[in-house]
Amino acid sequence: MCGIVAAIGSRKVAPLLLQGLQRLEYRGYDSAGLATVAPGQLHCCKAEGKLVNLREKLEKTPVAGCCGIGHTRWATHGKPDARNAHPQLDEAGQVAVVQNGIIENHRPLRQHLEQRGSRFNSDTDTEVIPHLVAQALANLPDTVPPTDRLRVAVAQAVQQLEGAYALAVIWLGQPEELVVVRYHAPLLIGLGEGEFFCASDTPALADVASSIVSLEDGEMARLTPLGVELFDGSGQRIQRTPQPLRGGNYTADKRQFRHFMLKEIHEQADVAAGWVERCLAAPIDEGLTTALQNVQRVQLLACGTSRHAALVGAHLLEQLAGVPSSVHYASEFRYAPPPLLPQTLTIGVTQSGETADTLAALTIEMERRRALEPNSPPRLLGITNRPDSSLGRLVPHILDLKAGVETGVAATKTFLGQMLAFYAIALHMASQHQSASAQVTACRQALAQLPEQLSRMLHAMDQCCADLAHGFAETKDVIYLGRGINYPIALEGALKLKEISYIHAEGYPAGEMKHGPIALLDQHVPVVSIATPGPVFEKVLSNAQEAKARDARLIGIGPVCADTEIFDVLLPIPSVPELVSPLLTVVPMQLLAYHVAAHRGLDVDQPRNLAKSVTVE
Ligand code: G6P
Repeated sequence: MCGIVAAIGSRKVAPLLLQGLQRLEYRGYDSAGLATVAPGQLHCCKAEGKLVNLREKLEKTPVAGCCGIGHTRWATHGKPDARNAHPQLDEAGQVAVVQNGIIENHRPLRQHLEQRGSRFNSDTDTEVIPHLVAQALANLPDTVPPTDRLRVAVAQAVQQLEGAYALAVIWLGQPEELVVVRYHAPLLIGLGEGEFFCASDTPALADVASSIVSLEDGEMARLTPLGVELFDGSGQRIQRTPQPLRGGNYTADKRQFRHFMLKEIHEQADVAAGWVERCLAAPIDEGLTTALQNVQRVQLLACGTSRHAALVGAHLLEQLAGVPSSVHYASEFRYAPPPLLPQTLTIGVTQSGETADTLAALTIEMERRRALEPNSPPRLLGITNRPDSSLGRLVPHILDLKAGVETGVAATKTFLGQMLAFYAIALHMASQHQSASAQVTACRQALAQLPEQLSRMLHAMDQCCADLAHGFAETKDVIYLGRGINYPIALEGALKLKEISYIHAEGYPAGEMKHGPIALLDQHVPVVSIATPGPVFEKVLSNAQEAKARDARLIGIGPVCADTEIFDVLLPIPSVPELVSPLLTVVPMQLLAYHVAAHRGLDVDQPRNLAKSVTVE
């Protein structure tokens, strides 16, 4: 993961780098650092913990220079401390590097460098890079002109690297340039007024650049105060037309809420309002209508919360539209894709549009499809909140969640948006297939009520969940049960709780509880059970009774009715058709996880060890 920024121009660069890093902190926040270069001096400043610590350090000891690189880290190799923070330097302190990715062959490279006398200061995989660049610089023949030396040395160094990386390099020997490289990790160049930037993602370029150039894998760029030169993998100059940087609102404001996550949970009624219009409209999107024509089966690729949305999506596609659908962990699919079948639509679901495993799985699928059906464009669709992301550049069709900036690392409103995107797709495909018409009508009618219901429920439910959270002070394990279309919501409820409260939680299909998890139950293990009227309602209630018989505290999520009286506590949802219920049952899940974590005084928006966008394998 990690976020990198670099800038060069005529202004003092450190404040620009800090501003860029602030916008990339969602990519990692366990340590941060920057390095600047000016004639005769290379300064490096690093701090453990969040960016605020680096900012404070820089206030006490400002760094000079109009050229620099910055990094916000999510540790892969080496503990999150200042020593392992980036930039990493060569032994002489003349070359500084920031990197996002993983250098898979760093061990043999390091061993080789150590045998030749290099001494290392960190446990990172990145540190080999400044050593390799410094070594290449030392060995370059005098015939290489000064303005080419850093680029050529970096090119020689990266030839030795295996893995996926985006990196930016500065060098004391040439203080008016910086060199950047991209290989299977995101990196964009930003063009401003007499100043040039590079960053892992567009928010870091907003406000400073008016257009962007994206680098392809293996490409390099040399940035100076005069402009940007692009090179392909063989060192040949290439040209690429810059694209205007589409204005997005990247500034996040908590409004009256204590945390971003709580604000974003409450924004779900607005997300629903936008989507309901799109779900009920036909066609949803012109390009998409073509992509959905004659689809015989759908495969869904995703990670984390997005995978849970995909599970809801597959249920809808099968039960509403009658289209066989399968959901795959992107990280598994990329190494064991199922046999190819014709007329298959592949959907990548990722709120960030940057998850490395999802992008890699989609790339593999695209290549396989091209080989199987060379005469027709591969049917690939992306569902994301960031149409300007790597996903947007990879797949031919994008369904934009339009959920607005989500700052909390734990996804909430983007999850609701992803589910709604699947209602839109499934309803559209159902109309193509003319299937399940009574269910389709009921679903459409229920969706029309959703924004209003969500809005009322969010207000009523917040305090209920806050009160309930007090009872979780000593809780160590929680079981979440759901069935059918609400099974993924049980998974999501458990994931939310784990992510932000660090309480162990597991989601199970309610019918599976007696095959193992029931052994865990006693009075210390609460069971959260989703019970919405439908074909298996009675069975879900029986499963809940089984838990109650083992002294577990039963928390129900469902409509108020005589049957739901068995619960010790009921978090009530409006009575809706079961197929639409996940859009409501998810809310108490999110609010409960939020209040338990907030009550424990935890960092809800930036939980330990996580990041919003996972750009490593
Ligand atoms: C990380 C985040 C999760 C997210 C997952 C997939 O692990 O912490 O909240 O669900 O990545 O992210 P994506 O951007 O692909 O939806």
